[in-house]
Amino acid sequence: MARLATLATRMIVVLRALAALPVRAGPAVALGLGLIFCVALAHDATAQQSLSPELMEELEGGAVPGDSLGTNPISDKWRDVRRGVQGTVSIPDKQAGVLVQSHGENWRNFRNGPLSTYSVWGIVGMIVALAAFFLLRGRIRIDAGKSGKTITRFNDFERFGHWLLAVSFIVLALTGLNILYGRYIILPVVGPEIFGAITYAGKYLHNYLAFAFMLAIGIVFVAWIANNIPNKTDLVWLSKGGGMFTKGSHPPARKFNAGQKILFWLVIVGGGSISLSGWALMFPFEYAMFAKTFVFLNNFGFNLPTDLTPIQEMQFAQAWHTMVAVFMIAVVIAHIYIGSVGMEGAFDAMGSGEVDVNWAKEHHSLWVEEVMAEEARTDTDKPGGKMPAPAE
Ligand code: HEM
Repeated sequence: MARLATLATRMIVVLRALAALPVRAGPAVALGLGLIFCVALAHDATAQQSLSPELMEELEGGAVPGDSLGTNPISDKWRDVRRGVQGTVSIPDKQAGVLVQSHGENWRNFRNGPLSTYSVWGIVGMIVALAAFFLLRGRIRIDAGKSGKTITRFNDFERFGHWLLAVSFIVLALTGLNILYGRYIILPVVGPEIFGAITYAGKYLHNYLAFAFMLAIGIVFVAWIANNIPNKTDLVWLSKGGGMFTKGSHPPARKFNAGQKILFWLVIVGGGSISLSGWALMFPFEYAMFAKTFVFLNNFGFNLPTDLTPIQEMQFAQAWHTMVAVFMIAVVIAHIYIGSVGMEGAFDAMGSGEVDVNWAKEHHSLWVEEVMAEEARTDTDKPGGKMPAPAE
């Protein structure tokens, strides 16, 4: 089509030139122009032939040719375009003078290439690792068996915050993954109409549940920050692998063990970072978070670009948002495993809020001691409560 249009334009130019000439000079000039026209046509045909079939297919399919190297006739033009040559425009948005934003092509290649590929590896890798762990270690049981007595682990406020976080995160993860992979996995199965409807609804869910997610991060931060300050017990817990790999090993822990503290801080920092980059994506061209971050990082010896255009800011926001989100998804899959099928008695903590005392003694021995001590103290404070004997 594009070739036909070019030919038609050239013919019109020739005909106009002919019409403007004196009648006597007509035949000679017509012959000359005809000759030039034929040479141009032949040159054009050779040029078309010299393009590889793959590049022709790309051009006709509307794709941006990234092939700026080489000796084919359009190389020079694309070389300039790839360098981001800027023309002049009279509208306020001067960026419109850039025909092809060269970084956009790099971003597109990164998003559809390594970012998509390694994200699959990360998520599938985590699932495979957990399956292997389950096969080798099996379900982590309560070694002493259930005692039948329970202890309150999380109150309503904590569980509300947790489930708001969990539900919003899972929906955000699924709708986000659909944006990245839906067209490869869901589209071929359900067809364009259903896929369009799913993705449209998913996009709205993704935008609006982002606010629930941010609120939930705030709630869990307030509820659990005091229990997540690292201390020496965490080093002992980590050195013993949390007892995860050895049956009967239960390193002491307070309300949260070192593994849980790591998860907590990942959720706060990672979730916060996803929120900021997501916010920038939701309100496009309003923020320059990456340029500012890069200026800050350059103080520590980095050499990152700080003169970013608004569209580059968006590209960095998208890439960062996806990278951190995929990392968080992999981590949360492991968390969901250990909080449900992976460990007997764990789910009750977030289900009813009450856990079996033996479970608590095995996994959070120091916390149980603290709760018991606190109960004993409040008992003695109550009127008629048991007073400790002088020797106690
Ligand atoms: C169906 C999904 C989920 C299940 C079954 C689940 C289960 C649990 C359980 C049982 C606990 C308490 C552990 C204990 O008593 O020591 C917990 C805590 C926690 N959960 Fe989840 N959770 C889920 C999803 C999520 C998601 C999506 C996030 C974050 C994005 C999250 C973040 C946390 C955090 C920060 C804690 C406190 C630290 C910890 O115990 O690891 N959870 N979860």
